[in-house]
Amino acid sequence: MDIKINKTDDSKQYLEYNTLGGVFDFYFLAGPTPKDVSSQYAGVVGLPAMQSYWTFGFHNCKYGYRDVYEVAEVVYNYSQAGIPLETMWTDIDYMDGRRVFTLDPLRFPTHKMRELVSYLHAHDQHYIVMVDPAVSVSNNSAFQRGKENGVFLQHQNGSLYEADVWPGLTAFPDWFNPVTAPWWNGEFNIFFSPESGVDIDGLWIDMNEASNFCPYPCTDPAGYAIENDLPPSPPPVRSNPRPLPGFPSDFQPSGSKRSVKRASTKGKKVGLPGRDLINPPYQIANAAGSLSNKTIDTDLIHAGEGYAEYDTHNLYGTMMSSTSRGAMLQRRPKVRPLVITRSTFAGAGAHVGHWLGDNASLWEKYRISIAQMLSFASIFQIPMVGSDVCGFIGNTTEELCARWATLGAFYPFYRNHNDIEGNPQEFYLWPSVAEAARKAIDIRYRLLDYLYTSFHRQTLTGEPFLQPLFYLYPEDPNTFPIELQFFFGDALLISPVTDVNLTSVEAYLPNDLFYDWYTGLPVRGTGANVTLDNIDKTDIPIHIRGGSIIPLRKTSANTTTALRQNGFEILIAPGLDGKASGSLYLDDGESLEQNSTAEIKFEYENGVFSLFGTFDYLPAASIETVTLLGQTSQPHVTRAVQDSAVEGYEYDAGRQSVMVKTNIGLTGPAQVSFK
Ligand code: NOJ
Repeated sequence: MDIKINKTDDSKQYLEYNTLGGVFDFYFLAGPTPKDVSSQYAGVVGLPAMQSYWTFGFHNCKYGYRDVYEVAEVVYNYSQAGIPLETMWTDIDYMDGRRVFTLDPLRFPTHKMRELVSYLHAHDQHYIVMVDPAVSVSNNSAFQRGKENGVFLQHQNGSLYEADVWPGLTAFPDWFNPVTAPWWNGEFNIFFSPESGVDIDGLWIDMNEASNFCPYPCTDPAGYAIENDLPPSPPPVRSNPRPLPGFPSDFQPSGSKRSVKRASTKGKKVGLPGRDLINPPYQIANAAGSLSNKTIDTDLIHAGEGYAEYDTHNLYGTMMSSTSRGAMLQRRPKVRPLVITRSTFAGAGAHVGHWLGDNASLWEKYRISIAQMLSFASIFQIPMVGSDVCGFIGNTTEELCARWATLGAFYPFYRNHNDIEGNPQEFYLWPSVAEAARKAIDIRYRLLDYLYTSFHRQTLTGEPFLQPLFYLYPEDPNTFPIELQFFFGDALLISPVTDVNLTSVEAYLPNDLFYDWYTGLPVRGTGANVTLDNIDKTDIPIHIRGGSIIPLRKTSANTTTALRQNGFEILIAPGLDGKASGSLYLDDGESLEQNSTAEIKFEYENGVFSLFGTFDYLPAASIETVTLLGQTSQPHVTRAVQDSAVEGYEYDAGRQSVMVKTNIGLTGPAQVSFK
């Protein structure tokens, strides 16, 4: 579809929709604020799915890990570097000849994969692998079972539709066919079986636009696979190159043994008759050429209702997403499934999260990631989103990767990932990047309950937690074009350094009171740019918006499981009117249906901090300190209106803040008075 905005001869503005077909459903979202529009849009497409607490930890991936040893080594290296790694990922490299639902028996043998997953789980870490939609037609029992069930797309003459993806000749599941989901569930049960397979914690789905390497008309997909060396030869088999203390003996050089290779439902057709589904009279003005180029042929008819691929192309990825969420759910029916997909459609956020696809290791991609993330999180209601940190295509640089490690810490979905051709870019590979990652993860994890609370609110109301500046200051037109700063939740303004060789950033501060995250000192915004300088490449500027109360963990941790044991610090940043508010949502961190939750409100007014709400979920931790910013002199009295909850306080003249030591259990209302 092309949408054109233009003016008529008599200067009236109009919108023109040029489309291949389909039926328009128009919704007018009345606002009045931009934020209201986002929530109203969620009312149309569905509220986003809540994610588990652990999914907000740091993730690492790379396309091209050559074997299970290398994957284990990366896990080990992160731990040695003191960089918290919550989740390790593996790309298509684990597959045998890149065929989904298979393991390379020499490089990623089942028993070692199971040992790797057990190791990760024993260390409160998680594991995710990729699954593509296209299924290899050769040497693959998943394909055989699918074929017997008639799950694959067919030509209109009833023959199997074949194309080429990573493993070469492949067939595509027809997600519209009612027999497909049971088959997909079955394949997940076998391959991802906790007893005998790879017991993954989340799922990564890719190539689901759907992508097909063979250009239209692709008359000889088998020949195309041969000519284009699909699948390519895997890297040479090797034994474990180095000891990995703490890993099972299978992962140690002495214990490594070479593994030995062991031995239709064609639909009716719906839609307007007589259409040319390959060469429609109106063509989209893009570079693809034929509509069917490098994707599934648009004249295929899906089983079930008989929809044409022409009419449903954009839904393929989202159909795969909801089916895959279902498959993950039936494996672990009680927990929120994490599925990260490349292709999305309106409403996908109700099922899955999204990474922003193949970016490049370039500063412009680092910058554009902010606007892309904001579109998905704040407008499209797919808030579990992030781009490949440090960049996917090409080679990153130390400086770019360090800056990106700090920016990525403020993406909802925080994952370092790069291409098979690119140099490795794990955070520990450069001292400055490692330091940037350690510092940024420390801040992110201390803020994880604030993130979780804000994200949870969006899943209930559609109120976006990541926001462009104009969402919070809609009356200030200066904020309208700003796309390199954003609010992380309602309380934190993030202003990253945005170019090479820079240690400063021109940051816009709306007419409001802010506080510097690092010094705690007030900064009066005047609706103008301020120069923030001396920003080391391991740092990222953060301002707290006056009027906010932020629940923090007192200290970070190596895993999100450990983090949940740490005590809270409540940070009060009074606004221009001297008041502040905030909230904290607590639950068990993963269950789809919670037995108990806590929804706690914080308020600060007239020198009194109060917390109240519902307290059914009892966390392991209590509030250990309450810090009040913006105090130019020491308050006279500090007392609590809850039994002996205040243990003392300290005034810090340099930070203009007072820190009250408390022991407030999150079991019921409490107050601390600062007067
Ligand atoms: C394309 C994806 O966008 C990328 O992230 C992935 O590494 C490759 N496919 C290989 O699976």
